[in-house]
Amino acid sequence: MSEKKYKFNTDCVHAGYKAESGQPQTPPIAQSTTYRYYDPADVAEWFDLNSPTCAYTRLDNPTVKCLEEKMAALEGGSAAIAASAGMSAALISIFNICNAGDHFIASKSLYGGTYNLFDVTLRKMGIDCTFIDQDGGIEDILAAARPETKLIFAESLGNPALTVLDFDKFSRAAKTLEVPLIIDNTLASPALCRPLLLGADIVIHSTTKYCDGHASCVGGIVVEGGDFDWSKNGKYPGMTEPDESYHGIRFYEKYGKMAFSVKLRAQMLRDLGCAMSPMNAYLTWQGLQTLHLRMERHSKNALAMAGFLKDHPMTDWVTYPGLYGDKYYDLAKKYLPKGQSGVLSFGVKGGREAGEKFLKALDLASLVVHVGDVRTCVLHPASSTHRQMSLEDQINAGIKPELIRVSVGIEDIEDIKEDFDQALKKI
Ligand SMILES: Cc1ncc(COP(=O)(O)O)c(C=O)c1O
Repeated sequence: MSEKKYKFNTDCVHAGYKAESGQPQTPPIAQSTTYRYYDPADVAEWFDLNSPTCAYTRLDNPTVKCLEEKMAALEGGSAAIAASAGMSAALISIFNICNAGDHFIASKSLYGGTYNLFDVTLRKMGIDCTFIDQDGGIEDILAAARPETKLIFAESLGNPALTVLDFDKFSRAAKTLEVPLIIDNTLASPALCRPLLLGADIVIHSTTKYCDGHASCVGGIVVEGGDFDWSKNGKYPGMTEPDESYHGIRFYEKYGKMAFSVKLRAQMLRDLGCAMSPMNAYLTWQGLQTLHLRMERHSKNALAMAGFLKDHPMTDWVTYPGLYGDKYYDLAKKYLPKGQSGVLSFGVKGGREAGEKFLKALDLASLVVHVGDVRTCVLHPASSTHRQMSLEDQINAGIKPELIRVSVGIEDIEDIKEDFDQALKKI
């Protein structure tokens, strides 16, 4: 491929298949556990983390590497590591940095599963989290910090509260504390928002959502920005001190801009086994080919639906950051100028009971536990994705009892409107 920089290049970036004539146009599916070598010295090189070749699919696979390179390119990062799910991407991005006794700061406007991971499971492992209101001042973020604080975590576009992150404030806080800022960019996708260009250090995704886009496979990815200085303050011995499980390697010294990713692969994928399968990497790679087009259409349809629902006599309120007058409208214009993605929420008149009737009456739109599909989907978070949280925690995370989340698909907008209208009339 030429060196020309394209605005949004979805063309293949093939690990191991680069710039040679006669190579496949899409990645081959390397449905293989292992790879044959002829010289034990080459295998030894792989075990010493000196080899770009693959040896065992729990750690590396040619198809998965194609996806990793493509996502790193789309997000503008130095490297990426794919994982079995968005949840494992969140877990390993934190576990690669924090040990028992460490602490981190997270926005409380998070996907329910991530909130639970931080609030329950990571605490069991001795990693403590302070949740903050992401709309407070920078002083609130700084006040939550302790000497053992190792990172800050937030979602660019919160699921399902649809909060838009003030990147400026969060990246200033992270720089002041000299800790990395990790951003879950799942709902926005790199087609609408590129957090590494807005001050983030690491980006994660549930690729299950818009990256795949067709509800065909679960997956996750961690993208490294490459500019964070892990040696600055002595807070990250796992990056700077010798790793005894790899003959005393110092990851940052040896791998520099890719140190975080090499450590993720060598320690997290090795020990936790949360690798992405080659088939899922292939399907996700295919999904990415149309990401920019889908996100444009999702955003256009969602904005039209938000306006339609706002004016509908059977709704109480609508939340969509692209809708004029929304609390996050200004932040959305600043950080998501190309579109605000396909997810919106609204409250049906008559609360939870009316909401249930509405969900049952839908025909085109499906009731599924998912967002980011090309097909329009609906869900009631209070009784599903966020049901483990107390009512108070739900309200704090922006989940009202009557809230219905809609993932607006790419169908004809008139068909979606008609379906919602007939269902609302049946209440
Ligand atoms: C913003 C966000 N992050 C992470 C996840 C978890 O991803 P997965 O279901 O792929 O594990 C989800 C799932 O809905 C999500 O919406």
